[in-house]
Amino acid sequence: MAHADYSNYKGDETKEETLQSVVDSYEALSSDTQNWVANLANCSSLIWHAYHSLNIPVNWAGFYVINPEKQNELILGPFQGKVACQTIEFGKGVCGNAASSKNTQLVKNVNEYPGHIACDGDTQSEIVVPIVYENKVVGVLDIDCLDLNGFDKVDQKYLERLVEMISSSCKW
Ligand code: SME
Repeated sequence: MAHADYSNYKGDETKEETLQSVVDSYEALSSDTQNWVANLANCSSLIWHAYHSLNIPVNWAGFYVINPEKQNELILGPFQGKVACQTIEFGKGVCGNAASSKNTQLVKNVNEYPGHIACDGDTQSEIVVPIVYENKVVGVLDIDCLDLNGFDKVDQKYLERLVEMISSSCKW
């Protein structure tokens, strides 16, 4: 199988099957390397293509990691989508809250989320899952959607599974 084939989702599967396939593909791809840049870059591509195959209008999918020069700050990592804010302080916005609370933030309407950081004014909903390694947050997975209610508990379940694998497959 060529690497690009991992991004080819047929579009005839349920959300559960598609997201499980993201987890399985990530597991296969990350067996090559523990480098987080390489693994998160390919993971962003898997997520982007998976959601698009489900006709869910994801407009941003990617990662923020801990800024090595400032431990209470997130810095932009690999992603798919438009240019985004480069740094986010812990406790600020959806990403910063996920990082400081170590809890997934499932935001059905970003316009009603106090402190939401609008990197793209077209975003309507968002999910952010913290990546925890040895009890410390090492980064967050962030996915934005152009629709309200773009994500639900099913997304949360599979993305949390994915993030557990991300945590254990990379050298942080
Ligand atoms: N909306 C996020 C900022 C990151 S962008 O969506 C890519 C937040 O409030 O933390």
